[in-house]
Amino acid sequence: MARRSTTVGVRRTRWRPEPSGGATSEAWRLALSAICCIGGTLEPVLTWPTVTEIPEHLLARSRERRSALGLGGDGGGDAAATPVPTATAQPATSSAASPAPIPAAAPPAPPKPPKPDLPWVAAAKRRRKVPAFAQVMLVGLPLWALIFAFTNDVPTSDELTPLAEGAQVYGTNCAGCHGASGGGGSGPAMAGGAVLATFPKASDQVKWVFLGSEGWKSQVGATYGAGNKDVGAGGMPAWNSLTGDELLTVVLHERSTQSGEEFNIDDWKPILDDPLLADKQAEFTEVLDAWEAEPPVE
Ligand code: HEC
Repeated sequence: MARRSTTVGVRRTRWRPEPSGGATSEAWRLALSAICCIGGTLEPVLTWPTVTEIPEHLLARSRERRSALGLGGDGGGDAAATPVPTATAQPATSSAASPAPIPAAAPPAPPKPPKPDLPWVAAAKRRRKVPAFAQVMLVGLPLWALIFAFTNDVPTSDELTPLAEGAQVYGTNCAGCHGASGGGGSGPAMAGGAVLATFPKASDQVKWVFLGSEGWKSQVGATYGAGNKDVGAGGMPAWNSLTGDELLTVVLHERSTQSGEEFNIDDWKPILDDPLLADKQAEFTEVLDAWEAEPPVE
């Protein structure tokens, strides 16, 4: 940096025209100083002669320094030639042969006493930190939340046994009229063999539940069941909105759980050929195939 500005200064003095030309010389001066400025950036292109000149003030400082050290006031090359009297040149301890003794470094400043902490910083340092195990727990929380969200949901019907699913369907759709455990209400009782007396075969009951009172009356007849019960005021809704799986398991619940029937696949099979149940044929087939392979007794 220092060298560069020096060089520019040198150029300026070198290229400055004679102070005689009035307006013309002023124009020259401007033009040349512009070239000099550009030259600063175009240095490699313009190939200025490389001159290293030491400015006067540095020389003066060097001279002062040398004389202060007793090495002779003027530099200029003759300092080395002039023998320096050792008595004045030497600091008391250093060896006589040393040509330029290094001045003793200033004694290191005593270490500053540490600044006292600001009150709130000190308070923060005193405060008890969050223990490491709590940090681990904090990191684990989102993971736990994910596990909770994805593994802890209510089991779907796929995971329930047929009897458990039937109980669920009954509780949701039928218990209001037939009683929570089939004891009867606005609808007739199911429990204690009552439903088995009406429908000795499961297939007939499935059809009844699917069609409801109105559907039965219009598509089958005015009476239903083994005892030819009158389809009364028609209070039994049609449950064709249930899936085939739900229909079969709820009937299974009423027969097996509430009335204690022993499961027999042959009592169910006629539903597979019943044209009135054609809508649910595929689902019924699937369920009955599974029940035939593994009877739904649990
Ligand atoms: C709104 C009330 C109501 C609901 C809900 C209801 N039922 Fe009924 N249920 C009746 C009535 C009323 C009868 C009698 C029908 C008649 O006399 O025409 C009946 C009769 C029956 C019968 C014949 C019983 C017999 O011995 O006569 C069965 C089986 C039956 N319902 C099953 C079901 C099933 C399964 C559900 C649930 C999916 C269900 N019901 C939901 C009112 C209801």
